[in-house]
Amino acid sequence: MDRNLVLEIARIAEAAALASAEWVGRGQKDLADKAAVDAMRGTFDSVDIAGTVVIGEGEMDEAPMLYIGEKVGTGRGPAVDIAVDPLEGTNLCAKALPNSIAVLAIAPAGCLLHAPDMYMDKIAVGPRAAGKVSLDKPVRENLEIVAEANGKRLQDVTVIVLDRPRHKEIIEEVRKAGARTRLISDGDVSAAILTAFPETGIDLMLGIGGAPEGVLAAAALKCVGGDFMGRLAPEDEAQRERCRAMGIADVNQLLTMEDMVKGDDVLFAATGVTNGDLLRGVRFTPEGAHTHTVVMRAKTGTVRFIEAVHQLSRKPQLQRLVNAQMA
Ligand code: FBP
Repeated sequence: MDRNLVLEIARIAEAAALASAEWVGRGQKDLADKAAVDAMRGTFDSVDIAGTVVIGEGEMDEAPMLYIGEKVGTGRGPAVDIAVDPLEGTNLCAKALPNSIAVLAIAPAGCLLHAPDMYMDKIAVGPRAAGKVSLDKPVRENLEIVAEANGKRLQDVTVIVLDRPRHKEIIEEVRKAGARTRLISDGDVSAAILTAFPETGIDLMLGIGGAPEGVLAAAALKCVGGDFMGRLAPEDEAQRERCRAMGIADVNQLLTMEDMVKGDDVLFAATGVTNGDLLRGVRFTPEGAHTHTVVMRAKTGTVRFIEAVHQLSRKPQLQRLVNAQMA
């Protein structure tokens, strides 16, 4: 893929973030999500790719836009797989809590796992601990590995975990080992990414979240040389059957980063919607808005932070998207 596609995907993430940012703090998570989806879908139309959504808003009969299998782009460029979460952390946006983002990843056709919409058990770390931790190792062992890799005392290791009753045991084990937990209400894509940026103080992400979000996190961590592993966690026979139908023969298989994101020709972008640990949220000004985006490319490992100033009065497309949501 042409490396300049990074700027295209940054624009797509920015558009989704700008549209959903209108809904920050308004308690309307579905409207915030819809705004992001509409904006992201609209922006794809001008990009020269022959894209197929493999991680999206749901199956064709469940989602009007960005559904799995939907073709996006002009159709003139490379054939690519697209993974999107136009608004990751819908509740975070609705409640104006930190770390909601607009996010997408793109890779050559056939390179992104078509993860079914169900839970996945996950582990994520940054580059220093990559290749050393495992979902199959006990929590304490992973903590010791991360402590050594990140040059920290075990007591200073911080594990980010979704605050859910299902994670009671993990949280207890981390605390018993003397390490710290950062409990979050939502947003495990952001959480996984934070492990790759030492300045955030987050060393490890553990726990069960959405499988589609797992593929997005794997794409981001592949770009920065981190590590990610997952195991699907179907809750009933229908979900197990769905895994098989999507080509995942053994649902208990440990999925490596390579199983989820093949090769190194992958691009990732995320724009902050609300302020977060890594990205600032959208800030509206009298002239328009400022956005903060991270874009990454696995082939070279380049990570760019893009601070954009949008003159919305000169961008009819974006202005229309923003205003339409407020009408
Ligand atoms: P949404 O953006 O769809 O609201 O998802 C937020 C999220 O917290 C994800 O980051 C996470 O993977 C998943 O929900 C966890 O699911 P659950 O809320 O069922 O525990």
